[in-house]
Amino acid sequence: MTEDVTIYIDGREIKAKAGQSLLRAALDNGVYIPNLCDLRERETPEASCRLCFVELEGVPEPVTSCSTGVEEGMVARTDSWRVRELVAAGFELLMTTHPVDCAACPGNKRCALQEIAKKMKFKLKSGRLPEILRDAPLDLSHPRIGYDSDRCVMCGRCVYVCNEEAGARAIDFIHRGLKMTVGVFGGGPLAESSCISCMRCVEVCPVKAFYEKTKETDV
Ligand code: SF4
Ligand code: SF4
Ligand code: FES
Repeated sequence: MTEDVTIYIDGREIKAKAGQSLLRAALDNGVYIPNLCDLRERETPEASCRLCFVELEGVPEPVTSCSTGVEEGMVARTDSWRVRELVAAGFELLMTTHPVDCAACPGNKRCALQEIAKKMKFKLKSGRLPEILRDAPLDLSHPRIGYDSDRCVMCGRCVYVCNEEAGARAIDFIHRGLKMTVGVFGGGPLAESSCISCMRCVEVCPVKAFYEKTKETDV
């Protein structure tokens, strides 16, 4: 049986499982911490979205909670001004590359960005930074899956499930710098890739850049 450890988040006593990340302990106990790249199936966190910051007592700088394991007596703050500023800045920057046309998006109302904005009381677009949209064409080649790389927030979840779980190696990070995105391994449309149609990328994509086609979304 996994041992319990006692931790304190925002003054609340929480029983967490030894070996669990602070992020998962918080979420499992109803404490919201914004996150995009964490995936329960994945043992080693990607820790790339930089949205899950918390402050820890005795630690000078905020840490990412997905890559921090719980320890007996740990004291964490999710609601300090330093954490809020850091998360707000990260979210604002992330949103410069993401089109906000929610009504036309297959992820509308089940999107992690909408959830973060609502729970953290952030605007989806601050209007302070210039947009840098990728403006890439939709990939509608696959019979069941649509892919809109413009919406991708580079969390890496789909790449992990496609490569490590499904073993299909159909998709990966492609291009460099500002043009970096997720695409078909070696280029080309999804229908011509080694995709085995497991649909895991659709399930795990937090913004539905990969989405299941319906009559409403695609012809
Ligand atoms: S549906 Fe295709 S692209 Fe998506 S995870 Fe499965 S094999 Fe990879
Ligand atoms: S397509 Fe979705 S799951 Fe894949 S990296 Fe982009 S946002 Fe993450
Ligand atoms: S969830 Fe921690 S860095 Fe993304």
